[in-house]
Formats: sequence, structure tokens, C-alpha cells
Amino acid sequence: MDLTTQLLEAALLAQKKAYVPYSGFPVGAAILADDNKIYTGCNVENISYPCGSCAEQGAISAMICGGARQIKEILILGNGQNLITPCGACRQRIAEFSKPQTLIHLATTQGIQKTLTLTELLPLAFFDESLKHD
Ligand code: THU
Repeated sequence: MDLTTQLLEAALLAQKKAYVPYSGFPVGAAILADDNKIYTGCNVENISYPCGSCAEQGAISAMICGGARQIKEILILGNGQNLITPCGACRQRIAEFSKPQTLIHLATTQGIQKTLTLTELLPLAFFDESLKHD
């Protein structure tokens, strides 16, 4: 099975586990990390809506807790006719562990719909160099 198919399958499995009683919109995310392992996450909602967390957030937590530190590729999968794109906060979370050319795959249950780089997803990102000052 090629790599993107593996990421797709992993995200599909994660999506099935999502806890989404409020939105009814399950999302799965799968990361290929620098240790060549795949880490997954799903969205977990809460009756206090802002306490919910995104699938990307869960996958990043799993990656960090697994001991890896870099995203080589990430795939985000949701239902619907429209392309699922990470929220602003998740773009920043992904950027923390990515390089400018890191690939982000946006998928539906039908497969990958669009692939873009981190720079395309989050131009002019706030990053470590941004903190440099005199
Ligand atoms: N959601 C994600 O998990 N990732 C995204 O990239 C977009 C949105 C979740 C948050 C919420 O549980 C549901 O999708 C509807 O917004």
C-alpha cells in the first residue's frame, strides 16, 4: 500500500472514532512523522462547545507523546461536498512541527481532493524567527 493510501486509511479509521454529538461532523487526521510512524487523531466535542478539540490537535498530541517531533505529511479527512480545510488555530499548530514544504493533504471519504504545502496553507506564518528582536 503506498504512503498516501496508508494515511488515507488511517484517517478514515480515526474519523470513525470521532465524538461529535453536537456538530455531527466527524473529522480524522493522520500524520506521517519523522520516525516514519503514522499518528492519528479525531475531533472530540464537548457540551461546553469551546472545550472541543480538532482532529489535527489530537494527531499532533499523539505524535509528540509518541516521541516524534516533525510532521513529514498530514492528511485531514471530513465528509461533505466541500473541501475540509484546517481551522486557523490548527494551521498554527501544524506549522509548529512542519517545514515550509511540508505537504498537507485535504481529503474526503472519496480520497485526496487537494494537496498543498504549509506555506500555501498558512502564508506569512508566525514562527520562531518572528520573535527575533534587538
Ligand atoms: N474540525 C476539525 O476537527 N478539524 C478541522 O480541520 C475543521 C473542523 C471539527 C471541529 C468540530 O468538532 C467539527 O469539526 C465542526 O466544526
